[in-house]
Amino acid sequence: MTQDILSVPGADVARVRAASPAPRVAVVLGSGLSGLAEAVSPATAIPFAELEGFPRAERVAGHAGRLVCGALAGVDVLAFQGRTHQYQGVSALAAAYPARLAAAAGCEVLMVTNAAGGVSGELATGDIVLISDHINLMGTNPLVGWPGPEGGTPFVPMRDAYDPGLRALARTAAAAERIELRDGVYAGLLGPTYETPAEVGYLRSVGADVVGMSTVPEVIVARALGVRVLGFSLVTNSAAGEGLSHDEVLEAGRVAAGDLTRLMLAILRRL
Ligand code: HPA
Repeated sequence: MTQDILSVPGADVARVRAASPAPRVAVVLGSGLSGLAEAVSPATAIPFAELEGFPRAERVAGHAGRLVCGALAGVDVLAFQGRTHQYQGVSALAAAYPARLAAAAGCEVLMVTNAAGGVSGELATGDIVLISDHINLMGTNPLVGWPGPEGGTPFVPMRDAYDPGLRALARTAAAAERIELRDGVYAGLLGPTYETPAEVGYLRSVGADVVGMSTVPEVIVARALGVRVLGFSLVTNSAAGEGLSHDEVLEAGRVAAGDLTRLMLAILRRL
C-alpha cells in the first residue's frame, strides 16, 4: 500500500482531538489577520513547532504560528494563526498542511484568509474580497503524485471550489453586519517577489482581481478531501504600488482586519 500523501501524522490528529474532539470548521488566518483566534474560548493553543507534520521553514515577520483549538461563536474550530508559504522553501503539499490536518480532524469547512494586492482598479486598500474563484499561477499543484482517493482518480473538479452556498451565507452575514464585501478572483503566485507592473497588467488581462502567495494549495487539497471552502482576501495594497513593503502590508492588514474578524464571527454564528 502506498502512503497517502494527503494524510498527516496520527500524533498530530490525536493532539488536536485531545484539545477539540469534534472540530467543524478550520480557519487559516493570514498576515495581520490572526486576531480572530484571540476570541476562541476556552482555547487550547498548540505551537506549530509541536505538530510533527507541520512544515518547518524560515520565519517571516507577521507569520508566527500556532493552532488555537476551541469554540468560536458557538462553533468548535481549529484556528491556524499563520501558515507556511511555498516561498519559504516548502512544497505545495507541505504548504497545504492546514487543509490536510483539518480534513483528518473531521472539519467540514475550511475558511481561508489572506493579505493580497489589489489588481483590479476598482479595489482599494482595506477592501474585503469574497473569493469567487482562483487562478493557480504557482507553477505547481499539491496533488502532484497523489493517486486519488481509494478507487478514484486525482482529477479533482475545481468548479465552485469556493462553495456557492457558503458564499451566499457570507453575503447575508456581511449585509447584516453592514460590511462591504467585493467579489473577486484570486491569483496565486509563488513569490516571494512582489509583482512587476508588467505582471500586474498580465494578471488584470487574465481576469484576476487580487494577487497573493498562499491559499491556492490549501484550497486544492481541501477540495480533494471533500472539505467545503470559503475564502477572503484583505486588500493591503495596490499590486505593484510604489515603495511596497511587507511592513505596510502588515499595517494595512491590522487596520482592516477588525471588519473581517467581525464578518467571520457572523458567518460562524450562521453555520
Ligand atoms: N502581491 C502578492 N502578494 C501580496 C501582495 C501583493 O501585492 N500584498 C499582500 N500579499
